[in-house]
Amino acid sequence: MAPTSSPPTTLASKNRVLIIGATGFMGKFLTEASLSSSHPTYLLIRPGGPLLSPKSTTIKTFQDKGAIIVYGVVDNKEFMEKILKKYEIDIVISAIGAESLLDQITLVEAMKSIKTVKRFLPSEFGHDVDRADPVEPGLAMYKQKRLVRRVIEESGVPYTYICCNSIASWPYYNNCHPSSLPPPLDQLHVYGNGNVKAYFVDGFDIGKFTMKIVDDHRTINKNIHFRPSINCYSMNELASLWESKIARKIPRLFVSENDLLAIAAENIIPESVVASLTHDIFINGCQVSYKIDGVHDVEISTLYPGESFRSMEDCFESFVVMAADKIRKGENGVAGGTKSMVEPVIITASC
Ligand SMILES: NC(=O)c1ccc[n+]([C@@H]2O[C@H](COP(=O)([O-])OP(=O)(O)OC[C@H]3O[C@@H](n4cnc5c(N)ncnc54)[C@H](OP(=O)(O)O)[C@@H]3O)[C@@H](O)[C@H]2O)c1
Repeated sequence: MAPTSSPPTTLASKNRVLIIGATGFMGKFLTEASLSSSHPTYLLIRPGGPLLSPKSTTIKTFQDKGAIIVYGVVDNKEFMEKILKKYEIDIVISAIGAESLLDQITLVEAMKSIKTVKRFLPSEFGHDVDRADPVEPGLAMYKQKRLVRRVIEESGVPYTYICCNSIASWPYYNNCHPSSLPPPLDQLHVYGNGNVKAYFVDGFDIGKFTMKIVDDHRTINKNIHFRPSINCYSMNELASLWESKIARKIPRLFVSENDLLAIAAENIIPESVVASLTHDIFINGCQVSYKIDGVHDVEISTLYPGESFRSMEDCFESFVVMAADKIRKGENGVAGGTKSMVEPVIITASC
């Protein structure tokens, strides 16, 4: 849908943002972006955990950058009402993990009761869950995200759903956070015929654009779709991109639709969830199978035409550095090991 032509709201003072799930994979990108865009940033952190843990280091880093830490849990209505009022929170962004999605219902009840929150962004940050239709166990997660949507819409709390598609990375079929690993060096799994396209967005850009969206009146009660045309790739194209970056051919193993369905059916959480979503993306084409022309749908480039996305080309350059670094440190997370980085692979790609 074409957005209205009026510019984003300019605010005399910045909206106060509360982030839930700041220590998580997606939450870190959002928190960095909120702090960088000078929004007063409050982080709801679950109490507990060892003092010297990666989570406490993350919290300390955010505190040093100006974040205000609020300890508590989201599924306590009275507590949430109290902190939303006390800190005069304007915007609530949730990046709560998949296991706690329904805890957001209590949060919505708290926002509905105090009536001062200007916008709620629930934990979405993936596909349009009303359109995408994965097999189980991904479907169970989507049913929870759909239920949260219906509760929000019924509550009257203004909302925005961020449909940012895939995180920029090699789309491993069994890894929830694939951008923490470089693409494989020994063998590239290609799903189906490898020709179905998907959109890839760098985590930094998910954060950056989300923080623009929260201040923009044109995005109230909308689905915002991230479809950067420069980052629309099929598996075969991604494989070729990686091969061009490391200057060698890597064998491709074609993983069939039935293979993905079998991994999903094993119902090992979270790996089977990822396999079911991988099937929906690269077999069903769930990211590219519909046009964005609904009343409630906006493609992000129509809102911010002057703003560019980090390209997959550039992201893959960083993965080359990451792969070399992991090999140097002897970390075993990189498939293929040192040998495949230093010796030419003889087998040519099968397509
Ligand atoms: N598009 C993509 O490619 C992509 C990739 C990954 C995730 N996502 C989406 O992003 C969203 C977040 O997922 P994630 O993988 O970033 O999650 P994650 O890494 O598992 O992190 C979950 C966060 O939620 C917090 N949390 C969990 N339950 C809570 C509760 N009851 N109260 C307060 N905080 C709670 C955790 O806190 P603790 O530190 O206390 O555990 C942690 O900070 C999900 O909707 C997911 O589907 C999308």
